[in-house]
Amino acid sequence: IKNIAVLTSGGDAPGMNAAIRAVVRAGIYYGMNVTGVLRGYDGLVNGDFIPMDRKSVANIIQRGGTILKTARSEDFKTKEGRQRAYDQLIKHEIDALVVIGGDGTFTGANLFTSEFDFPVIGLPGTIDNDLAGTDFTIGYDTAINTVVNAIDKIRDTAESHDRLFIVEVMGRDSGLIALRSGIGVGAEAIMIPEANMGVEGLIKRLEYGRKDKSSKIIIVAEGDEIGGAFNVGEVLKENFPNYDIRVSVLGHIQRGGKPSCMDRVLASRFGVAAVEGLMEGRSGDIVGQVNREIVFTPFDHAIKHIDAEEISPAWLKLVEILSL
Ligand code: F6P
Repeated sequence: IKNIAVLTSGGDAPGMNAAIRAVVRAGIYYGMNVTGVLRGYDGLVNGDFIPMDRKSVANIIQRGGTILKTARSEDFKTKEGRQRAYDQLIKHEIDALVVIGGDGTFTGANLFTSEFDFPVIGLPGTIDNDLAGTDFTIGYDTAINTVVNAIDKIRDTAESHDRLFIVEVMGRDSGLIALRSGIGVGAEAIMIPEANMGVEGLIKRLEYGRKDKSSKIIIVAEGDEIGGAFNVGEVLKENFPNYDIRVSVLGHIQRGGKPSCMDRVLASRFGVAAVEGLMEGRSGDIVGQVNREIVFTPFDHAIKHIDAEEISPAWLKLVEILSL
C-alpha cells in the first residue's frame, strides 16, 4: 500500500482530530502518502481531496470537531454515488481508505466493500458508544464528562431552589450517554430507549423516593419513547403539582470541546492500528479496543450491534439502588 486516504463522517465526536493525526502520522511513518478527504463521503464522491503531511496534523490532538469536516451524505447512499466515489479513489491512485465515524459511516462502508474490491478500515468515532467490537468509541468519554460537568452545575441551582430538573441528553437510539452520566451525577431516574420505564414507572420511582430531597435530577435520552424532556416535564407537572419543575436540553455542547485524555489515547491507538491493519491486508473491519486489546470486527457485525454493550437489568438496578 502506497497511498491511503482518510475521512470523517456522520456526527462529529471529540477525538476525531486525534484519530486523523494518528492515521496521517502512521501512514507517513510506514512510508505512505496520505490524502485527506473533506466532508466525509460527500468529498469522496466529489473528489474533494487534500494532501496531508506530518505538519498538517500538528497541534490538533487537543481540538474538538474534525479538521476534515464531516457530513451525512445522501449521494453515498446510492449505488451511483458509491461508483463515483470508487472512480475518484482510482483516479487519485488511492490504494486504501480509513473512515472515522459511527453506525451510518460503517453501513456505507459495508455496502462499498461488498460492491468494490477496495480496502477500507473503520475507526469508531461517535459520542453514542453504540457499536459492537469496542468497549468504547472515540468521543464517548469526553461527552459523558461534558454532561456530568453541566449537570453538576444544574444540581447546584436545583438544590438552592428545591427544584426537580429534567435534563435531556443526546442518544437517538442509545441510552449509554444517559446511563453513565446519570450514575455519575447521582440522578434520581434515567429514561432510555433500551428500557423504557414509561410514565407510570417514573411516577412510581418519584413517589417511592425520599420526600425530603431538596433537588431531583431526571435524565432523559433523546430517543426515549415519551419523546424528550419537555414531554416528560408536562406529564410530571400534571402528576406532581407541588414540584417546582424545570427542563434543560443540553444539545450539541455534548459533541464539542477538547477531547479527554482517554479519547485522545484511544484515537491514537486506533489510528495507528488501522494503518497497520491495512498493511496486514485487512479490509471491511472496524478497529476496536476490548479489554485493553486492539481487535478488528467486521462492519456488518459492528453495525448490527452483535455483542454490543447492553444496558442490562443490573445497570438499571444500580441506578435504582443509588437513587434512594
Ligand atoms: O450520532 C451522534 C448524535 O449526537 C446522536 O446522539 C444524536 O441523536 C445525533 O447525533 C444528532 O445529530 P445531528 O444534530 O447532527 O443531526
